[in-house]
Amino acid sequence: MDDRQQFAAERAERLSKLAEAGPMTEAKTFFDASLPQLYSYNFDWLGLPIIQYPQDVMAIQEIVWRTKPDLIIETGVARGGSLILYASLLKLIGNGGRVIGVDIDIRPHNRQSIEEHVLADAIQLIQGSSIDEATVAAVRDQVKGAGRVMVVLDSMHTADHVLRELELYSPLVTEGCYLIVFDTVIEFMPPVTVAHRPWGQGNSPYNAVEQFLETSSRFRVDRSMDAKLQISVAPSGYLECVAP
Ligand SMILES: C[S@@+](CC[C@H](N)C(=O)[O-])C[C@H]1O[C@@H](n2cnc3c(N)ncnc32)[C@H](O)[C@@H]1O
Repeated sequence: MDDRQQFAAERAERLSKLAEAGPMTEAKTFFDASLPQLYSYNFDWLGLPIIQYPQDVMAIQEIVWRTKPDLIIETGVARGGSLILYASLLKLIGNGGRVIGVDIDIRPHNRQSIEEHVLADAIQLIQGSSIDEATVAAVRDQVKGAGRVMVVLDSMHTADHVLRELELYSPLVTEGCYLIVFDTVIEFMPPVTVAHRPWGQGNSPYNAVEQFLETSSRFRVDRSMDAKLQISVAPSGYLECVAP
């Protein structure tokens, strides 16, 4: 076994032990403490705010590089940093990959920042609710002949909304690519941190994923992501498409 294979094998073994042991208590302590600090609002990707934890950004980098999608669709754009992340990775892959961002409220200054970015040519914005017929039709139009497709759901985090997104967008994901459902962690957050939100424990993206997986055998939860990240907004939210 050469050194690279040995390194990969040792990592896989460590991760499998971590997966068995379950989440580290210290990671949960940090995560809960970070919530009132709005920690996820602290970061930029190539100049635009990305509302994510750095561990999830690392997971996306690994997934995109490994699975090499031609098209990444994200619902929930906010200030655009996540779209720029996907576009930058696709640019490095060099296959002419594209990104579609869907948001119900693309504010003019955020649109301007995205459209003036050096990576703007790879990005298309669609304004509308992610579950509206017209929005979905506009997305489907762009998917025709797109090749390998990955989807990220990060818009409205109520269970009903995410379940509907899963129904509408999961058929677009191609075998070997990922469907990432962000903010499943809401299910495990201290209730006080989401008290003013329409979502919460029992009404979270996690519940939507659970329900969705009861009816779909095309996707499996990539548990190695939970094990390696420890701190993540998407526990059980990294879904790998394992069938055509
Ligand atoms: C958590 S932010 C997205 C963060 C972004 N993906 C990032 O990583 O920086 C959620 C976004 O979802 C949008 N949103 C809320 N309800 C929506 C809906 N019904 N359809 C589409 N987007 C929605 C909000 O306008 C907001 O910009």
